Amino acid sequence: MIFRQLFDSVSGTYSYLLASRPGGEAMILDPVLEKAERYCKLLQELDLKLVKAVDTHLHADHVTGLGELRDRTHCITIMGEQSKADVVSMRVADGDKITIEGLALDVMYTPGHTDDSYSYLMGDRVFTGDTLLIRGTGRTDFQNGSARAQYDSIFNRLLKLPEETLVFPAHDYKGDTVSTIGEEKRYNPRLQVRSIDEYIELMGNLNLPNPKLMDVVIPANMHVGLHQDELEKQGRSLNARQAIESLGRTDVLLVDLRESGERAKHGTLSGALHAPYPSIDESLKPGGMLREVAAASGRRIVFFCAYGERSAMAVKAACEAGLANTAHIAGGIDAWKKAGGPVLHA
Ligand SMILES: [Fe+2]
Repeated sequence: MIFRQLFDSVSGTYSYLLASRPGGEAMILDPVLEKAERYCKLLQELDLKLVKAVDTHLHADHVTGLGELRDRTHCITIMGEQSKADVVSMRVADGDKITIEGLALDVMYTPGHTDDSYSYLMGDRVFTGDTLLIRGTGRTDFQNGSARAQYDSIFNRLLKLPEETLVFPAHDYKGDTVSTIGEEKRYNPRLQVRSIDEYIELMGNLNLPNPKLMDVVIPANMHVGLHQDELEKQGRSLNARQAIESLGRTDVLLVDLRESGERAKHGTLSGALHAPYPSIDESLKPGGMLREVAAASGRRIVFFCAYGERSAMAVKAACEAGLANTAHIAGGIDAWKKAGGPVLHA
């Protein structure tokens, strides 16, 4: 396994680069905007293809690198379903898995620091975001934070993990890099409380100043979505209503870019071909599945995904590969459902 803990000294943020092998797929957790160049260089040096960029929560102290990395590498952006970010490619919930080649993260909803805080468990280690820090816990006094919810997330979820589980947080300001669940249980001063009420009182009396850049950073992190207007101007975008009207038309081929887990959970569209986004380049090459199907059928490929990001990137990739007659469903199956479109469940 390739495991890199990367540090941004300005915000004290740890980002994690994960991959199962050199030359394979990679994922990054909590990337920082200003470090995007550095990450891309490292990806190149390690011969890795970034396929997923994940935030544990909407950060208040640094601008996320999600949007920038998506624009540079065409990776999928991921946050929890409660996140107020305008558009991410994929939203996850408790019990889901985030997978790349050879690696899987178990998604744990651990609210409290914010209402969109998640932890990600990967075998012997857990990425705790700002829920559980080394000898500390994330503040709970803004972004719908809740000391009560955080107590529950920590005591009833994270501390129930095996004691030897490694704890990798999203921040450290003292220079610590890793801890364990057992160590935090015993020595984290915030966790030496006798009751939930004692914890709530402790968290209520911290009187911390707001993060310096909070007023700039939070709005920026809420607008990480890919701008899809360009495709609309080019006539390569169907809104949900237009897409619903085109259902069953013989000159249209719907292509579902989502993963099998998303299709099982959220349903799919009648007659849609399944072509997962991470292999889109392969699929669009001469001899590739989509290219052959498009040529053989003469139909217009209409890509869709969860929220329209992967499909917008697929339209661009198709154009670059010389496949001009494509479009996407703006807003994805989410917009389709909201417009009352029919969905098939397996
Ligand atoms: Fe945070």
